[in-house]
Amino acid sequence: MSVPKFCFVIHPVSLEDVARFEPGAKGKGKPIIAKILEWMPEWAAVHVTGVRTPDGRETEGWFVAAPLLPEQMLAFPREEVYARILRAIGIGAELGAQVAGLGAFTGVVGDGGVTIAERSPIPVTTGNSLTIAAGVQSLFRGAREMGVEAENATAVVLGATGSIGGACVRLIAPQVKHVILVARNETRLRKMHEEIAARLPCSSEYTTDVSAAVRQAQLILTATSSTQNVVEPEDLRTGAVVCELSLPHDVSRRVATLRPDVLVTEGGNMLVPGEPRFERVREQGREFDLNLPPRTALACMSETMVLALERRFESYTLGRGIDLAKVIEMQAMAERCGFTVAGMRAFDAAVTPEQIAATRKAARERRARVVA
Ligand SMILES: NC(=O)c1ccc[n+]([C@@H]2O[C@H](COP(=O)([O-])OP(=O)(O)OC[C@H]3O[C@@H](n4cnc5c(N)ncnc54)[C@H](OP(=O)(O)O)[C@@H]3O)[C@@H](O)[C@H]2O)c1
Repeated sequence: MSVPKFCFVIHPVSLEDVARFEPGAKGKGKPIIAKILEWMPEWAAVHVTGVRTPDGRETEGWFVAAPLLPEQMLAFPREEVYARILRAIGIGAELGAQVAGLGAFTGVVGDGGVTIAERSPIPVTTGNSLTIAAGVQSLFRGAREMGVEAENATAVVLGATGSIGGACVRLIAPQVKHVILVARNETRLRKMHEEIAARLPCSSEYTTDVSAAVRQAQLILTATSSTQNVVEPEDLRTGAVVCELSLPHDVSRRVATLRPDVLVTEGGNMLVPGEPRFERVREQGREFDLNLPPRTALACMSETMVLALERRFESYTLGRGIDLAKVIEMQAMAERCGFTVAGMRAFDAAVTPEQIAATRKAARERRARVVA
């Protein structure tokens, strides 16, 4: 039987991403970079090999670039963005891919992959089921590390009406005392809250005021489609845990320096089984820098690999109303294939056990100062 194949559509989520791929772009202004990206055609950028399950199954795939920045994905006419994403999937399909994943904003734009899947020659997934599963696990791992008693905690989900945020609200609620739903569109937020509040096993509220919500929370999960900072250091409670799923990130980098008592962790990174290699197609032998540790990939990439490994060539996760049963099934499939949630990481660096201990100490000291 031939090796099952996948493709995954990637794009830069920041100017730093562009410069990491093409160092010549460093220092050039955003307008120039954006214009060059606008003119660039889609291309197969990365060849992925060496992904192997503990029981010896393998997959091979390609990351195909549809190189627009998040702001461009949101600002350009939707049909043009869809056409670019579909051209990228077409390149993957020609290389033999049997399933396609939508990276970052390619899964956000429009209706969260539904229209793209309708028009695609192969099945499509946003990868959000595994992102949700990994994010919720990471949030509560962070809570345990910081000694936060989840059952007595208030949790905030930023981007609660979204594909990822909506499911995270429902998975977090059984484990906390109170949950606050946050987004910008109040009507959508109110409707969603009306629909789910009675079924949530904890008390809940909603607000469009990010700052007011964050000020109340010990646990925060970010899943917005914002291209700007959303979480600022001044709003965070002492000893808070922030699990960051958004790409680009929602948490201001000022948190890294100004709030040593707060644990920030990227929630959507997975360890890939086997000896995965992410090799640049045009410069053979040169690794593609995902800005992650070795053997690590985003959860949405990992979901696409899992579907290929399990030969589930179907449009698995699409749109905004995510089925929790699928999240649970995907988590089980990922575990069976040998994928595990990666070690903690924040602000482009690993979060070591020593750092976690220092964060706990800083939280204790800050609490003592406030009480004194
Ligand atoms: N780590 C990973 O592996 C991974 C995988 C997939 C996706 N992602 C990232 O996850 C994020 C969410 O993806 P999604 O598919 O769930 O997107 P989505 O369905 O479009 O949802 C986005 C949510 O964010 C809210 N929002 C946007 N701007 C906001 C702001 N400034 N303040 C508060 N809320 C805001 C939106 O509601 P309003 O418009 O009403 O504000 C909506 O609730 C994206 O950043 C995506 O790139 C990460």
